[in-house]
Amino acid sequence: MDTYEKIIGLAKRRGFLWNSFELYGGTAGFYDYGPLGATMKRRIENIWRDIYVIGEGFYEIETPTIGIEPVFVASGHVHGFSDPMIVCSGCDSAFRADHLIEGIVEIPDTLSAPEIKQLIDKHDIKCPQCGEVGMFGDVFDFNLMFKTTIGPGTQRMGYLRPETAQGMFINFDRLFRFYREKLPFGVTQIGKAYRNEISPRQGVIRLREFTQAEAEIFINPRDKSHPRFSTVKNTVIRFYPASHQQNASEGNSGDGDKGIIELTVGDAVDRGIVAHEFLAYHLVMTNLFLTRAGIDPARLRFRQHQPDEMAHYAVDCWDAEVLTDRFGWVEVVGIADRTDYDLSSHAKHSQHDLSAVLEYDTPKQVEQIVVKPDMSLIGPLYKDKAGKVLAALKNLEEDDLSGDKISITVDGEEILIPHDVVEYETVIKEVRGENVVPHVIEPSFGIDRTIYAVLEHSFAEELVDKETRNVLRLPPEVAPVQVAVLPLLTREELINPAAEIVEMLRKSGIFVSYDDTGTIGRRYRRNDEIGTPFSVTIDYDTLDDGTVTIRDRDSMAQVRVQIGELAERINAMMRSGFDSP
Ligand code: ATP
Ligand code: GLY
Repeated sequence: MDTYEKIIGLAKRRGFLWNSFELYGGTAGFYDYGPLGATMKRRIENIWRDIYVIGEGFYEIETPTIGIEPVFVASGHVHGFSDPMIVCSGCDSAFRADHLIEGIVEIPDTLSAPEIKQLIDKHDIKCPQCGEVGMFGDVFDFNLMFKTTIGPGTQRMGYLRPETAQGMFINFDRLFRFYREKLPFGVTQIGKAYRNEISPRQGVIRLREFTQAEAEIFINPRDKSHPRFSTVKNTVIRFYPASHQQNASEGNSGDGDKGIIELTVGDAVDRGIVAHEFLAYHLVMTNLFLTRAGIDPARLRFRQHQPDEMAHYAVDCWDAEVLTDRFGWVEVVGIADRTDYDLSSHAKHSQHDLSAVLEYDTPKQVEQIVVKPDMSLIGPLYKDKAGKVLAALKNLEEDDLSGDKISITVDGEEILIPHDVVEYETVIKEVRGENVVPHVIEPSFGIDRTIYAVLEHSFAEELVDKETRNVLRLPPEVAPVQVAVLPLLTREELINPAAEIVEMLRKSGIFVSYDDTGTIGRRYRRNDEIGTPFSVTIDYDTLDDGTVTIRDRDSMAQVRVQIGELAERINAMMRSGFDSP
C-alpha cells in the first residue's frame, strides 16, 4: 500500500470521504465528504475566512454556480478552456492526450493537437485501458465546462462555472460602489466549481466538482506596491522560479528540493523574481494559510509558471505546490496577476464601462482643445440630426480629434465629420481623477486538494507497545473532533459524570465526541487515527477528587486537572499546545 491508498483507506473507513454514488457503482471525479470530512472542510474554510475575510477585510459574496453563455464567452472559457483529448477506437476510452506521453517524452506546454498525435504514434503508445497500439483517433480540443440549458427548450445555454471568479468580475460595478469607489479592494467567494475533466484518475486530486476559495483583489494598475508589504517582507518562502525549471512538465515530478531557493519575499521582489509587492504579499498569505491548515512547510514550494504555461488571462502566476507521495508535486493554489483581462473583456462584451476613476488628492486644472461646432454649417448638413451631432461633438476628447475626419456615433450610426465644419478652442477643465481599468490579483485555492494534502502530511505510523498506531497530527483548529470524552470503564458510576463533562465542554464551544465502546487503549487509537488532539478520561479517582485526565494525542502524555478547570485548560491547549504542569 502506498501512502495515498493508506490515506484514502483511512478516510473511507473513518468517515472523512469516499467516492460518490457508491451504491450505483460510482463514477470518477466525485467524492462525498462524510461526517468527519465535512467538519474538517468547514474548519479549513474558516481558517481561510479568518485570513482573507477578517484579516484582510475582503467581504464574501455568493453568486450562482450556473452562468449564462455571454459570461463565459467574455471570460474566454467557451473558446479557450479545453484540454487535448484522444479516444481509443478499440475500447472507446477517452484520455488526456498530453498525459499519455508525459514522462516518455519532454513536452512543452505549447504542443499542437497534431504534434501530440505524431508523438503518440511515433512512440507506439499503448491504450492504458485495453493495451492496444495504433487504435487512437485524432487529438482534439475538449472543452472542460459542463453545459446545460436554462429553462424549457434549448435556446438559452448555460454552463456550470469552472471557477468562482467570474461572479466577482461581472459584479465589479456594484462592488466598487460598495467599497466607496476606492482601490484596492478585495472580494472573496467560497463555493463549488465544475470541470468535466477528461479522465480523472488521480482520485480526490482531480475532481469534476470541487470547492474553490478565491479572492479577487482589484488594484490600481499604475501602483502594484502593497500598503502592508513591510509587515511581511521578512517572511521566508521556498521559491521555485521559472528560470530554475528546465521545462514546465518538471513541475509535477517528485524531484525533492531541486531548484528551490529559500528567500525572504522582500529579497524576491528586489531581485525581480516576483513581479511586484502585491503578488508577493499574497504568496505570504497563501503560505500562512497552508501551514496553519497543517501543510508541512518542508513539503511546500511556490513554483512560477513558465511563460508558455500561463492561463489565457495571466501575466505572472505562481502555484503553491505540495509534495505528495504518489503524485509528486501537486498544485493546490494558483496566485495570478490577471491584469485587466477580465474587466476589459466583460466591458467590451457587455458594452458597460467597467473602469474606475482614481481621484487625485486635489483636482487638476488641465488645458484642453475642444470642438466649437458652427451650427450655421452643421444645421444644413445634418438637418434633423444636427442637434444630436452638436451634442456628440461637444463631448469629444482631444484624442478623438486627430484623424482625417472626426468620427461620432449618433443613434448607433457612425458619422464622419470633416474638420472644416468645426472650429477648435482651448479651455481649462477641472479633472477630478484618472480613468483606469483595475488589475486583478487572484489567489485561487483548491480546498479539496488542500484537505487531501493536510491528511497526507499529518499522517504518521508509529510503533507503540509493539503495535502500529496510526495518527493524524492535525492542528487542533483543523481536527474534526477536538476532544474525546472516555469513561475508563462502561459503568454507570463513570458514564454519568462523563455525560456531564460532555455537556459542559459542548456548552463552552468545544466539539466533543463520547466513546465508551471497547478498551481504553482501542479508544485512544481510534481517536489518534482521526486526529483528535485531546482525550479526557474519567476514572475512579474522578469520583474521589473531582479530577480527570487529559491525554495528548501527539506525545501520549497525560495530565490530571480539576473538572472545574477543564474547559479553560482545553481551550488554552487548543491555542498553544499540550502543557503539563
Ligand atoms: P491543474 O493544472 O492541476 O488542472 P489548474 O491549473 O487547472 O490545475 P486552476 O485553474 O489554477 O488549476 O484552479 C485553481 C485551483 O483549483 C487549483 O490550484 C486547484 O487546487 C483547484 N482545482 C482545479 N482543478 C481542480 C480539479 N479538477 N479538482 C480539484 N481541484 C481543482
Ligand atoms: N480562478 C482561477 C481558476 O480557477 O482558473
